[in-house]
Amino acid sequence: MAIKKVAVLGCGLMGSGIAQVSAVAGYDVTVLETDQKFLDKGFAGIEKSLGKLSEKPEKTGITPEIAKEARSRLKGSLNKQDLADCDLIIEAIIENPEIKKKTFGELDAIVKKDAIFATNTSSISVTELAAATKRPDRFIGLHFFNPVPLMKLVEVVRTIATNNQVFEEAVEFGNKVGKVPVRTSDKTGFIVNRLLVPYLLDAIRAYEEGVGSITDIDNAMKLGCGYPMGPLTLLDFVGLDTTYYITHVMFDEFRERRFASPALLRRMVLAGWYGQKTGKGFYDWSDPKNPKPNDAALRGLE
Ligand code: CAA
Repeated sequence: MAIKKVAVLGCGLMGSGIAQVSAVAGYDVTVLETDQKFLDKGFAGIEKSLGKLSEKPEKTGITPEIAKEARSRLKGSLNKQDLADCDLIIEAIIENPEIKKKTFGELDAIVKKDAIFATNTSSISVTELAAATKRPDRFIGLHFFNPVPLMKLVEVVRTIATNNQVFEEAVEFGNKVGKVPVRTSDKTGFIVNRLLVPYLLDAIRAYEEGVGSITDIDNAMKLGCGYPMGPLTLLDFVGLDTTYYITHVMFDEFRERRFASPALLRRMVLAGWYGQKTGKGFYDWSDPKNPKPNDAALRGLE
């Protein structure tokens, strides 16, 4: 089956990015949301990103014409029926298995039988979501990375029930949207989070144990290992709430300390310090261009 029409469920950070790269690659894209205000916010982000990328076509490959065509291929919708003739449905809604299962269950009855269902989940079992539909053989994981327009990777995740041809079509889709697809299977965390999460949690433990300050831990990994962001900055970028949620799912599966949440992470999430999105995490983001280390993070643990 040739994929021509793509639907993206959710117009948040990930959904809008996935919609953007799909439209740039030439697919007709419908983004489904529950409220017009979420569509407006997501489309404003796409507009900003396409504007930025088309300023440097020699570097990004996106000319103003390509950006204009991509815009014309993108539409928003609040009605599930609009997805009936889509070939690939990529879900990027809230990381809540029950809400995801309900959404896929409803779409199962609306979307044509041979359409492929994909989830962008970073930690929920793809098999569990697939089993909630009548098409577990046509269900895969397509895990993109933030910011989607810039990050070159997509993890393509198969379950024990995934049809081989569907898996290969998903790999091909990953290539077409300009990413490097890596093949992986439905083991919690896939490849990236299996390796990334223990590293991020160790950075928090190192800080808790006084191995270094926030700035020094971040500088050490940036300058010593050439990482684009230090681990504590990356935690603020990914979201401490998101990371906390992932640690639970991973610890539940593996029962290993390396996946367990450090006390400080739990305290910060309870305090509502989720990172960039709430203005405070390991850094104070009041001035986003010049974040200040938030050493108050340690207070209460001393
Ligand atoms: N669209 C278009 N352009 C964008 C953009 C977007 N969404 N986001 C940033 N840019 C642009 C900036 O405007 C900037 O442009 P100029 O050079 O013209 O000013 C350029 O990209 C570089 O950005 P910055 O100067 O802000 O910073 P940077 O050089 O550090 O690059 C970064 C930003 C690509 C995000 C880089 O820091 C990076 O790679 N960080 C690591 C990100 C990462 O690890 N992501 C994965 C997180 S894990 C995950 O997503 C999955 C999970 O399951 C948790």
